[in-house]
Amino acid sequence: MNIDLKDKVALVTGSAQGIGLAIALKLKEAGAAVIGWDLDEKGLEELKKLTGEEVYKVNVASFAEVEKAAEKVLEKYKKVDILVNNAGITRDNLVMRMEESEWDSVLEVNLKSAFNTVKAFNRNMLRNRWGRIINMASVIGLMGNAGQANYAASKGGLIAFTKSIAKEFASRNILVNAIAPGFIETKMTAELGEENMKEYFKVIPLKKFGQPEDVANIVLFLSSELSNYVTGQVINCDGGMIM
Ligand SMILES: NC(=O)c1ccc[n+]([C@@H]2O[C@H](COP(=O)([O-])OP(=O)(O)OC[C@H]3O[C@@H](n4cnc5c(N)ncnc54)[C@H](O)[C@@H]3O)[C@@H](O)[C@H]2O)c1
Repeated sequence: MNIDLKDKVALVTGSAQGIGLAIALKLKEAGAAVIGWDLDEKGLEELKKLTGEEVYKVNVASFAEVEKAAEKVLEKYKKVDILVNNAGITRDNLVMRMEESEWDSVLEVNLKSAFNTVKAFNRNMLRNRWGRIINMASVIGLMGNAGQANYAASKGGLIAFTKSIAKEFASRNILVNAIAPGFIETKMTAELGEENMKEYFKVIPLKKFGQPEDVANIVLFLSSELSNYVTGQVINCDGGMIM
């Protein structure tokens, strides 16, 4: 069965590069109109050339900016069927050295952003009685990690948020799921260094890092009719790191 998203409108946050870009291209390939949100204007322009759809410079951590941009999106596209909350950052530090700003920024970009976008689009989705919300969590949100308490808390919170709104929206056929990637080769993981990578391979049964497309394939599944009976789940994409 081919996945056909021809009549669907998708919005992917953090889609100027990395996993978000791969998701945007994958959904476009399946026929969806894909709107891009990011802070990186140059990256957004490149994305627009590839998708042919609107891109918006939006700080997803800001409730007001999200609300304003969502109005513009709904004015032009009338609906958003598939919402992918992918934008995320890291500000790693041990808790004893962590600045308040490092805690706040990670929680705001990685967790509050999902509240912001869901608030902005839920009415439209509820009215249409069809929707898919896909939140980009992380294996770190499931297992914790020294030096990433802020990131782990944001992703763990995102998983709890996913399950809660899956329950709230189920009766209107809006399915809400999270993906927990392990190590995926993007700019976010490029700084790890060869020695660290060797250490990580010890705990990854598949002995390699994933590619952005591996995550995008799961988003495609969760966006399609193939996942009609799947909601409130966390799907790991981690080479078997957590079982
Ligand atoms: N790469 C990995 O190994 C990995 C593993 C687990 C989870 N993740 C998660 O996957 C998602 C994407 O990761 P990636 O590796 O592609 O990261 P990335 O840094 O390559 O891309 C993130 C994108 O989000 C955008 N962004 C950052 N803050 C923003 C904001 N406030 N408003 C709008 N856009 C913003 C950036 O400009 C960038 O384009 C993140 O949520 C990340 O936490 C990544």
